[in-house]
Amino acid sequence: MSAPDDHVTPAKPPVTVLGLGPMGQALAGAFLAAGHPTTVWNRTASRADSLVARGAVLAADPAEAVRAAELIVVCVLNYDAALAVLDAAGDATRGRTVLNLTADTPGRAREAAGWAEAHGVTYLDGAIMTPAYTIGTPDAVFLHSGPRDVYETHLPTLNALAGTATYLGADPAGAASYDVALLDLWWTSVSGLVHSFALARSQGVAATELAPYAKNIGNLLASTIDDMAKAADAGDYQDDVSDLRSTATALAHIAHASEESGLDASVLRAAQALADRTVADGYGSQGVLRMMGTIAGEGDLTSRTPTA
Ligand SMILES: NC(=O)c1ccc[n+]([C@@H]2O[C@H](COP(=O)([O-])OP(=O)(O)OC[C@H]3O[C@@H](n4cnc5c(N)ncnc54)[C@H](OP(=O)(O)O)[C@@H]3O)[C@@H](O)[C@H]2O)c1
Repeated sequence: MSAPDDHVTPAKPPVTVLGLGPMGQALAGAFLAAGHPTTVWNRTASRADSLVARGAVLAADPAEAVRAAELIVVCVLNYDAALAVLDAAGDATRGRTVLNLTADTPGRAREAAGWAEAHGVTYLDGAIMTPAYTIGTPDAVFLHSGPRDVYETHLPTLNALAGTATYLGADPAGAASYDVALLDLWWTSVSGLVHSFALARSQGVAATELAPYAKNIGNLLASTIDDMAKAADAGDYQDDVSDLRSTATALAHIAHASEESGLDASVLRAAQALADRTVADGYGSQGVLRMMGTIAGEGDLTSRTPTA
């Protein structure tokens, strides 16, 4: 007969979560669900109520929260707020590992890593690429950067959060670099979708009537991304389907149609202005990818072609 403690599961490491907006609550909830003793702190304490009901410990202040675990996950509005909360914890942060899942710029991620070094804190940065309701499910996508050994040490704990977690390297700004580029794609695309709904409505077409055709366009965009990315990295800006002169004319007529209907066409006019400037610089026979040079403020893009 085996001793009763033969099958005792090893205790999961404790985790602290600072910040309980929708995302911080989801993170803390996923740690709890995976069996991690979870300590939380939020500027507005009442946002911890449902987590406390599920077994989380609410710390009285950031320092108490930080003392409760080796791994401190921070997820607040922006890096100003993140560093303010960490500063408020004072010396308690020394020797701990901070995983900052707050979204901000690559520059701010490097700044936060500098703050951490100056305060004796080990720093990981991260970006969450899916909404709060995905956290703890197979759909959740996380990107991480910082020291590999630290990331690997905490990976078993971080597996409570993510369907997919990808390590992007030691540069603390790696995750934020992907995050801002992907959010650029998301928000410019969503702005286009919203504008197209408004343009359709101005012509008496409901958004739901347009939707099946809009989905075709979304699929078309998705199907061109790999080829466009390869061409962008290779510096190959030719496009056999349509050149920039034609693109600029198309953008002008859609903007004009919007203005004829009394709509704000600034989203389209901004894209048209980029195309027009690229044509004026002498690249009208090339494809839309050539606008990367105009966006970067450079005529000659060859010096900026990445090696990856
Ligand atoms: N929600 C999502 O689906 C999602 C998806 C991907 C990434 N993110 C990123 O995750 C981060 C958190 O997002 P969120 O949706 O949870 O909510 P949020 O509205 O971006 O942030 C709210 C959190 O920040 C705290 N906060 C704001 N200013 C503060 C300050 N000066 N000092 C201390 N705490 C402060 C709030 O505390 P109080 O409760 O006291 O106001 C609350 O805990 C953001 O960077 C966001 O971009 C969110």
